[in-house]
Amino acid sequence: MNAIGQIQDDLKPFREKFGEFASLYDRTLLNSSELELLLDTYSSFIIDEDNKKRWEQLEQREWSELDPLVDELREQSARCVAVLEKYRALRLLENGEIDIADYFKNIESCIEKEFGHFQVTADSKVLLVGSGAFPMTPLLIAKKTGAEVVGIDIDEEAIDLGRKVISKLGPDLSIRLENTFVENLDCTKELTHIIFSSTVASKYDILEQLYDLTEEHVVVAMRFGNQLKSIFNYPLQKVNTNKWRMVEQILQPTQVFDIALYQKGNQSFDL
Ligand SMILES: C[S@@+](CC[C@H](N)C(=O)[O-])C[C@H]1O[C@@H](n2cnc3c(N)ncnc32)[C@H](O)[C@@H]1O
Repeated sequence: MNAIGQIQDDLKPFREKFGEFASLYDRTLLNSSELELLLDTYSSFIIDEDNKKRWEQLEQREWSELDPLVDELREQSARCVAVLEKYRALRLLENGEIDIADYFKNIESCIEKEFGHFQVTADSKVLLVGSGAFPMTPLLIAKKTGAEVVGIDIDEEAIDLGRKVISKLGPDLSIRLENTFVENLDCTKELTHIIFSSTVASKYDILEQLYDLTEEHVVVAMRFGNQLKSIFNYPLQKVNTNKWRMVEQILQPTQVFDIALYQKGNQSFDL
């Protein structure tokens, strides 16, 4: 079998299983362990050096052939990650358990490096787009820096669970979660830092929208995944360089996503 055929054979079972698990969620912990294992296996597949090389050796034509499969995998795995955060929240709220699956360890170790040279301090105000049911980014940032954090999510259940998780793990921290869109937020002019979850499909449209809503010195951390990482993350896109410019890329070979930092300005940085 040729290289592309082998990669397709490796990836198709993930697609079937993600589709199945995403629709099985019923607001209980049933299936949580199996989904956790599946996402850990998927994360390991993505950061495996041999798989990375196999992917890079494919030709442009072969990548285009993989596009439909990649789109489906990304969409289905994003649904499953959102469900996994709900399982983690339910486990904490129902059983008092804090379990750190590999996927979460991976995310948490990324948060440290999130803003490169543009550090968050106690005077910062941070927005997270796509805060999820287990808002570990707001918790870690607020706890470590004392900054004020606002998280938004389009999923009402995620916001509801997220608020309960915050009440349990960080009741005194300055964290607010809202089921709303950026245009309805009252504090966008005060934001100093913005983070986009990598599984938010419309993140570049929201970035464009945020240009007029925010102040001059705001720094944006866009989580993304290109190449093999794009089977789990929405990739980098070109931006309107009259508005945003990429000022730094934080590449994380051992993590499932990378980070691009943007500021306002009119110079581009090569993708
Ligand atoms: C699972 S969480 C966080 C995942 C992971 N920490 C990451 O970096 O991608 C992603 C959340 O983004 C939310 N989301 C998806 N599209 C969104 C949008 N346009 N605006 C706000 N939240 C969105 C989903 O509902 C989900 O709860």
